Amino acid sequence: MEAIKLTNINKSFGDGENRFQVLDNINFTAQQGELDIITGPSGSGKSTLLTIMGALRNPDSGTVELNQTKVDQLSSKAKDDFRLNQIGFILQAHDLVPYLTVQQQFTLVDKVRHQGNMTKDELTILMQKLNIDNLTNHFPNELSGGQSQRVTIARGLYTKPQIIFADEPTAALDSKRVTEVCQLLSDLAKKEHRTIIVVTHDDRVNQYADHIYNLVDGKISLIK
Ligand SMILES: Nc1ncnc2c1ncn2[C@@H]1O[C@H](COP(=O)(O)OP(=O)(O)O)[C@@H](O)[C@H]1O
Ligand SMILES: [Mg+2]
Repeated sequence: MEAIKLTNINKSFGDGENRFQVLDNINFTAQQGELDIITGPSGSGKSTLLTIMGALRNPDSGTVELNQTKVDQLSSKAKDDFRLNQIGFILQAHDLVPYLTVQQQFTLVDKVRHQGNMTKDELTILMQKLNIDNLTNHFPNELSGGQSQRVTIARGLYTKPQIIFADEPTAALDSKRVTEVCQLLSDLAKKEHRTIIVVTHDDRVNQYADHIYNLVDGKISLIK
């Protein structure tokens, strides 16, 4: 089953002489159960593409279908619900809430999404796999870059999303942690049939990918 289907996606920023086309008629599909990588130079539009794929941002033109739903045709409320229930984001900004402990980051998700999230035991197992189970009472400013990146990963997976979008999820991790995170994501794809798109220029992730795409000059091409 096609879990992600982008058709003729265009996106520009700026006006007039400063107009800059970041995405130029992008077509892209990913099958359910795949872990695919999108790579490309800094500024090539990877994050823009990922946020369009995840229906966080609208393209100028083109359609986005996720699990057979045309998300651009949904009302804004329906789109929010769809995102909350089906999509997990692991974004670059490490956007943990500064005044909440690690444990409370998850409690906050429970307040927004009342059911379907990980059980206490499932979360504990996930935290152990990511080696952050000893950090539950820490605040974000007490975490290293790598620790906060792994908490961000755990939070993205907490709602048990069918589709996962991750933006440079391993940038702050040493090689041992990269292996753990990639194995975790790979297992979610292969054993639980989740669909995972990872934007990265971390070569250490390549071996886990079903497909690798390169985004350059607004165009995307398959390189593996
Ligand atoms: N909200 C925005 N307004 C204007 N320009 C933007 C905006 N977001 C991204 N850009 C520009 O679009 C280009 C692609 O950005 P981005 O998607 O972040 O690239 P990447 O993730 O590959 O580094 C960059 O030149 C960036 O400056
Ligand atoms: Mg980026």
